[in-house]
Amino acid sequence: MKRVLVKETTEQIGKVVRVCGWVNSRRDHGKIIFIDLRDRSGMVQIVFTPDLKSKIYELAQKLRPEWVIEVIGEVGKRPKGMENPKIETGNIEVKGSQLKVFSQAKTLPFSIENDGYEIKEEKRLKYRYLDLRRPRLQRNLEIRQKVIQFMRNFLQKKGFLEVETPILTKATPEGARDFLVPSRIYQGKFYALPQSPQQYKQLLQVAGIERYFQIAKCLRDEDPRADRQAEHTQLDIEMSFVTQEEILDLVEKLYVSLVKKIFPEKKIQKTPFPRISWAEAIKKYKSDKPDVRRNKKDQNELAFCFVIDFPMFEWHEKEKKWGAQHHPFTKPQTEDIKEIKTCPKKILAFQYDLVLNGFEIGGGSIRTTNLDILLAVFEVLGHKPEKVKKQFPHYFEAFSYGVPPHGGIALGIERFLAILLPEPNIREVIAFPKTGDNRDLMMNIPSEVDEKQLKELGIKIIKSK
Ligand code: AMO
Repeated sequence: MKRVLVKETTEQIGKVVRVCGWVNSRRDHGKIIFIDLRDRSGMVQIVFTPDLKSKIYELAQKLRPEWVIEVIGEVGKRPKGMENPKIETGNIEVKGSQLKVFSQAKTLPFSIENDGYEIKEEKRLKYRYLDLRRPRLQRNLEIRQKVIQFMRNFLQKKGFLEVETPILTKATPEGARDFLVPSRIYQGKFYALPQSPQQYKQLLQVAGIERYFQIAKCLRDEDPRADRQAEHTQLDIEMSFVTQEEILDLVEKLYVSLVKKIFPEKKIQKTPFPRISWAEAIKKYKSDKPDVRRNKKDQNELAFCFVIDFPMFEWHEKEKKWGAQHHPFTKPQTEDIKEIKTCPKKILAFQYDLVLNGFEIGGGSIRTTNLDILLAVFEVLGHKPEKVKKQFPHYFEAFSYGVPPHGGIALGIERFLAILLPEPNIREVIAFPKTGDNRDLMMNIPSEVDEKQLKELGIKIIKSK
């Protein structure tokens, strides 16, 4: 007999169905046993009465929360006055005639019925597979996939091609530390996990893809925060023959239509999204991610804005050197190499951030395709041309074979979701997040590896702390 989801039982009144799932709760009223059975679609009430075969009735008496069971029975309307308007199947119940127990369950380490914010997060993350049974987190995962699906459809309809780029790659100057992967075959050499697909997506423009996107995993060895994880997901975009304004317009259309479809209860404060220069943002709001909401108390208020015209360079006082505001491949708003080298402070960049309610949810730039300008930028950052050419030989080589003007943006999926759902931090919108100190308590990682594995890699551990 085909399994039906509990949600579908409402269309099966008078019929015998087979349902499977978890025992959410059991109540006994006199001799009648009521089970709330939960599956991915919702909950339904099962009734076992004492007139059943004694073997089945006795088994039903043993049922405990979270046991995994199968029930066959007839769907009937609940008696008058017994309906439960709180659940979708509240008008019906399944009169159990057969019962099978797939597996029993120990008492869970915490309740999964409520939102769970009151439970210590370490405990929730250690038993994340149980935490995820919580309706709030199931909803978060569902909305996450709806958002990603929407983004895919939106871009595919506009002629974008989704291309996967490697996870084993080379260090990129994205600003954070790299996670390194030692090579077994080439001992002493390393791959780096991608901080973003930045270089690949630019090389895809040289390849003639013109409109690229990817739902990309990015890995950065930095200290986690409420809105930062070692691993995060970006909607990564790159386009050829575009202007900055065309990119911003595309992103704006994407978010406006996405919010309308998936979060119709939300209100976007202003369209077109205000374009605020970096200098104005700092002056007026003292922040490069200004919260421009008129009513900060209203959870349904969404104030998007673009911050544009960032300075190309930022001064790092500690190291007494210039750093790139975004990354070195960003195009300065001048073609004057002398000016770049002599007055780095003055140079603005074709760089933009998308800001929502005071959070940076995206960032990108138009890229430099003039290699002399790129070298000048690197020089300001303190890198000699020979070293840069050696570090990015593919770049220099590729750009000498016909490179289109191009630019792009990457949009943080988790930050956007955390604001929209809303959730207090991005861990709540990730199936298996790391803790605030970068551990996975469920898998117990990072963890030691076998001596044999280290030997194969030619690695000896010298603890620095
Ligand atoms: P950037 O580093 O600005 O740009 O990242 C783009 C967006 O990704 C999100 N984000 C993060 N979310 C969670 N945890 C993190 N550790 C984290 N780091 C970044 C933010 C951010 O705005 N390659 C460039 C993009 C480009 O130039 O096209 C890049 O990665 O929402």
